[in-house]
Amino acid sequence: MKRFLLVSTLFASACNQTPPAGPAAGKAYFHQAGCASCHKIGENGSAVGPDLTFVGLRHSAQWLDLFIKDPQAWKKDTLMPKRYISDAARGAIVDYLAQLKGQDWPQGARPWEAASLIKDPVARGRVLYVRAGCVGCHGTDGTGGYPNNNVKGGLIPALNKVADGYSKAELTAKIKKGVPHPEKADPKGPAPLITMPAWGQTLNDAELDALASYLLSLTPAGAQKNDW
Ligand code: HEC
Ligand code: HEC
Repeated sequence: MKRFLLVSTLFASACNQTPPAGPAAGKAYFHQAGCASCHKIGENGSAVGPDLTFVGLRHSAQWLDLFIKDPQAWKKDTLMPKRYISDAARGAIVDYLAQLKGQDWPQGARPWEAASLIKDPVARGRVLYVRAGCVGCHGTDGTGGYPNNNVKGGLIPALNKVADGYSKAELTAKIKKGVPHPEKADPKGPAPLITMPAWGQTLNDAELDALASYLLSLTPAGAQKNDW
């Protein structure tokens, strides 16, 4: 299947025919464009950038397209490189990424389900934070600095001071429910493209509890560098 897609992709570009679209074609383009040299999907790929196994749960197709097209236009200092790929190939990559909702991890074998982590909620919460992709919006160890459009201050909140404002129950409830419509800075302006996912749809109570334990353990001084 992979070989067929590669051949048909090359054929389409050589003959200037409509290139293949949809998730299967997008998966082939993802590998051709070298995305897996920095991103994991399931246990394949490497951890130079965020794990994308859950990326379709946390980002809309609209934002994925905009970010992949020109990462620095969204976040000036991002280490995600701009790749010159055709609009059609990018569209197919977005189709592929938007439907990644954890299916590439085998049932019962998500990274935070390792037996060694079950008894240590803070360590488990940290693995969840990184591999479920909180880190892609809230930064390494909750340090923040990630942009959003039309929100006060222009940034997604940092999370390394939540211990000051939240009880554990409040924090768990917040993560569970998410924020589908972040408040607009300009009420007449466009809706923010980044929203806080409702993690209760995907994570169970023990996992949400581990995340809250981890967040409550953070302090602004304690950030480790670039852990994906
Ligand atoms: C040289 C390494 C590298 C390559 C190659 C790369 N990326 Fe990235 N990517 C990153 C890094 C690092 C980030 C995190 C950016 C940040 O934190 O500012 C990122 C972020 C992302 C995000 C946002 C993830 C999130 O959870 O918010 C997506 C989506 C993405 N990359 C897709 C791709 C696609 C598609 C390709 C191939 C066309 C690709 N990347 C190639 C390093 C890379
Ligand atoms: C796609 C981006 C995105 C991802 C991924 C994400 N969040 Fe958020 N998060 C947001 C945004 C945006 C807000 C602010 C919402 C608002 O306007 O109130 C937020 C708010 C929060 C808050 C409230 C912060 C405060 O200052 O009151 C907590 C806690 C939180 N997120 C935890 C998490 C955890 C834990 C994860 C991973 C399981 C996660 N987030 C993943 C975008 C994201």
